[in-house]
Amino acid sequence: MNTVLVGLQWGDEGKGKVIDYLCRDSDVIVRFQGGNNAGHTVVIDGKKFVFHLVPSGVLRKGKVCAIGNGVVVDPKVLIEEMESLKKQGVSISARNLKISPFCHIIMPYHKIMDALREKRRMQKIGTTKRGIGPCYVDKVSRCGIRMVDFINEEAFALKLKDNLAEKNPLLEKVYGEKGFSFDSIYSEYRKYAQALKPYICDLTDHFYPLKSKRFLFEGAQGTFLDIDFGTYPFVTSSSVVAGNALLGSGLSFVPVKRILGVAKAYTTRVGEGPFPTELKGDMLNYFQSKGSEFGATTGRPRRCGWLDLVLLKRAVISSNITHLVITKLDILDGLEEIKVCTAYKYRNKTCKQFPTDLSCVEPVYREFKGWSDSCNMARSFKNLPLEARRYINFIEEFLSVKVLFISVGEKREAIFKK
Ligand code: IMP
Repeated sequence: MNTVLVGLQWGDEGKGKVIDYLCRDSDVIVRFQGGNNAGHTVVIDGKKFVFHLVPSGVLRKGKVCAIGNGVVVDPKVLIEEMESLKKQGVSISARNLKISPFCHIIMPYHKIMDALREKRRMQKIGTTKRGIGPCYVDKVSRCGIRMVDFINEEAFALKLKDNLAEKNPLLEKVYGEKGFSFDSIYSEYRKYAQALKPYICDLTDHFYPLKSKRFLFEGAQGTFLDIDFGTYPFVTSSSVVAGNALLGSGLSFVPVKRILGVAKAYTTRVGEGPFPTELKGDMLNYFQSKGSEFGATTGRPRRCGWLDLVLLKRAVISSNITHLVITKLDILDGLEEIKVCTAYKYRNKTCKQFPTDLSCVEPVYREFKGWSDSCNMARSFKNLPLEARRYINFIEEFLSVKVLFISVGEKREAIFKK
């Protein structure tokens, strides 16, 4: 069965762990958007594998992993990631890793412009400063450098010159920064191009004859960071919802019946923007320390809050989610009381509908009795404490979508089917 997997909150839902689990029953794993703003860790036998761009399917033998056209690639980061995985004994070659020629390249000027724009902005976004936004801007304004241009010496030189002719005056005159020298970027980036060249593969052509294989489309970030459906402008610059999976991978011929939405048993957010169920004080400290809520990419502490079902309902609709995956349930172990947002208060009225502006609502909570036993060792739904089962059943009923998997810990085996 083909599957799309997306995050239902603001990213960091623990998708990496779920993807690793789903890879067992998939042949091809494709990343379709975002870049190295994403990051996740897979823990196998106590060994940590860190991923930013490479689909974690490379950890399993016989799988083909692909980086789709919708992804923006920082070549230096990708090469470093591949090298570090290889050092850990992971086999990576042109046979199991394919990169679309239509991916756009994140260049050094994108990274600095990301940071400078953020500094200048009156309303900060809190970007990861990885150059994601400026790279997508260039893609849409048709001056971007694609993988196919990157590996072609002449095309790369021409496009780099053209871009520097625009970016250097902008950096110097508007931002008062030093511009970039063509020669130094060119010589450094040519080496990256040569290293990545063997992996470039037209995914559309390559996978068309293989369309009967089992595809897994791996989303990064989360629904409310989506450029259209998220809490704009506090969003990332790509389309995160399931509708982009086929477009961002170039594999429109793959029929998708299963769309999995991953949600944490509570909510987190990194960066700025509205967050109705956000917690402060002791409860924030509790989630940050027990849930290790620090960004995998930037190390920033994540903002934490109770589960927001109004938000999740909207995410379910936005991606036509067929099944849910609930992660980090074990982080709620030991809490006496657990709150869940089931409606919003807006101008003294209670509404269950998702508002167009999330910044002026207050959460309306339903309270649940917590559980003292640990979920961490459970390997089946019936092994969970009664109150944890009630919590999961309530989520299912509220969203009218079945929970397919529950993750209860960092370890690879700490996930089971409901
Ligand atoms: P950008 O994607 O670096 O432009 O950042 C835009 C917003 O998305 C910021 O609030 C980031 O913190 C957030 N963001 C981007 N990628 C991730 C992610 O993988 N997890 C969580 N937040 C992210």
